[in-house]
Amino acid sequence: MKKNIVFSGIQPSGKLTIGNYIGAIKQWVKMQNKYNCFFCIVDLHTITLKKKNFDLNNAILDTLSIYLACGINPKKSVIFIQSHISEHTQLSWILNCYSYYGELKRMTQFKNKLIKYNFKNINSGIFFYPILMASDILLYQTSYVPIGEDQKQHIELCRNIANRFNNNYGNIFNIPKPCILKYGSKILSLQETKKKMSKSDNNYNNIIYLLEKKENIFKKIKLAKTDSDKTRKIKYDIINKPGISNILNIFASLTGEKITNIVKNFNGKMYNDLKYETSKVLIYFLEKIQENYYNIRNKESFLKDIIYDGNIKAKKIAKINFLKIKKKINLLK
Ligand code: TYM
Repeated sequence: MKKNIVFSGIQPSGKLTIGNYIGAIKQWVKMQNKYNCFFCIVDLHTITLKKKNFDLNNAILDTLSIYLACGINPKKSVIFIQSHISEHTQLSWILNCYSYYGELKRMTQFKNKLIKYNFKNINSGIFFYPILMASDILLYQTSYVPIGEDQKQHIELCRNIANRFNNNYGNIFNIPKPCILKYGSKILSLQETKKKMSKSDNNYNNIIYLLEKKENIFKKIKLAKTDSDKTRKIKYDIINKPGISNILNIFASLTGEKITNIVKNFNGKMYNDLKYETSKVLIYFLEKIQENYYNIRNKESFLKDIIYDGNIKAKKIAKINFLKIKKKINLLK
């Protein structure tokens, strides 16, 4: 039987965080044993934001090394670079013509960026960003998209565009489903618990990087905001106790333990006890990833071979599927 297709990607826009791992990569590692997986490094999304002294080429190899270090296996999954497969941008233009200004304007991430950059220097790439993302997904006839909570709205838009297209032209696109974990789909920023942990945050104390140093982990987790309710009880309540719930989420996601069990084990203990144990869990978990990462990161020809192979596999599928789409809309006889 033909395996279902999984597609997901990460922007090589900075060092990856435990949020990227827990929300997305952790799911990928499991899914590659069951599905036909495409894991993309979405460099074209990255150029929507300009950073000074940023070396994109290096960042792509850093990201690839993280994928591998976390357990993405190039023998099981297709790992490739978005900009190397021209069909992504070609399909993106076509889908632009089947989506509306109004629906793009409503995207929460777009609105947040307008506020973050004070409505200044917002390039059109930021606006059309979700359409390129829809193209990434639809090009491969994807069934499942493993992502964190923040990408959910983009997948809804992608599904709407695909349905609209199918209604016009017959069943061209598979309608993809998002895969979002119940716990860990939104790891919060450590000090500002109203927002997600983000690799583009300027406050480094909000983030634990996958390559974070041991001593920083203790320091950052210790500084993490906890909740100032009178009880100071360790319990999972994401609305009223987001800080401590976030720590519980990290602990549970990395150990596989149930949150209810963790809460039981910490009954009567202090916030600092949980924080200390969570730091130890993080250190233990990241040690292996970091060891793998530093073993491969400087093997550039090995990394480039993986990209070369992945690109060939992705191109083959992208080319066939894109030709079918072009035929359907009469761009090709
Ligand atoms: P990006 O690079 O911002 O994030 C990559 C993945 O990590 C997840 N994530 C989180 N999950 C839990 N908690 C967090 N704090 C956290 N921060 C990030 C994201 O939800 C995402 O799954 N637009 C996408 C990249 C993309 C893509 C695609 C994804 C482009 N094309 C096609 C899926 C399918 C993005 O910017 O992700």
